[in-house]
Amino acid sequence: MLCILAIKMSAIAKKWFQVKEYLLFQWKAGNRHSVHSPFVFELCQRVFEDKRSFHAFKEIDQLRKQRSLETGKVKIIELGAGSKHNEDRVRSVGDLVKNVAIPAKYGEVLFKLVDVLQPSTILEMGTSIGFSGLYLHKARQKAPMITLEGNPFVAHIAQQHFEQLNAEVIQIKVGDFKDTLSEALERLQTVGLAFIDGNHTYEATKDYFEKIFPYVNENSCLIFHDIHWSKGMRKAWDEISKDNRVVFSIDLFEMGLVFFNKGVPKQHFLLKVK
Ligand SMILES: C[S@@+](CC[C@H](N)C(=O)[O-])C[C@H]1O[C@@H](n2cnc3c(N)ncnc32)[C@H](O)[C@@H]1O
Repeated sequence: MLCILAIKMSAIAKKWFQVKEYLLFQWKAGNRHSVHSPFVFELCQRVFEDKRSFHAFKEIDQLRKQRSLETGKVKIIELGAGSKHNEDRVRSVGDLVKNVAIPAKYGEVLFKLVDVLQPSTILEMGTSIGFSGLYLHKARQKAPMITLEGNPFVAHIAQQHFEQLNAEVIQIKVGDFKDTLSEALERLQTVGLAFIDGNHTYEATKDYFEKIFPYVNENSCLIFHDIHWSKGMRKAWDEISKDNRVVFSIDLFEMGLVFFNKGVPKQHFLLKVK
């Protein structure tokens, strides 16, 4: 009984933390008119405040609609900091589409970022059933892309989705990040863009930054998802964005971006996605 009460209290505390973070962000965040850096201004225009639609968005939306009705069950293996929505050990594909796959608004941000930055390679940590991976790949199909996933059951569904949308060149590596990340980095040699969306703990997030850093160059971009999800993620984001090796950092609330451009002063931005 006491144990259930403690779990409920901790869930309420976490929700309260997220609401506070959201309100603070809404209060502080700006738009392209509050930005002086030409590089970040261009990202506002062409990514965060851009209303264009691309053919890939329709394809992925169609898959989303079709799969959100799927009642087939998938085994869930808890590898990271825990699921945001429930702790069931089996979930339907439709539930994963609705509650785990990146929402279209932020998937489209990923697509447009890749479209503008044209990274030489793409790394994703946390494939799940493949939706964020599809947005990343579709914007630059020539770039070698590796996506890492610890749960073979969801990875299998991601593979089916990649095949359905002609994206089977994306390489899925199944296994715990602690076993697959180093090999993926060695294969890619340079990380043009990385989307880190799994194992949302302070320690793991800091560790992934340190492991990926030797593979970045001045054109690279690292994207950390769910930076306001918990105190630990917020602490990791604060430390990464303040790190002297990072030049620009952009907080979009849902995700945080870091860049390593040379010869410009260090700056931090809070920007709303429209
Ligand atoms: C939030 S989901 C990813 C969602 C996906 N990026 C999308 O937007 O469609 C996180 C995924 O990371 C995987 N994951 C978490 N911790 C992991 C670890 N230590 N090693 C491998 N995979 C892990 C989980 O199995 C889960 O599928």
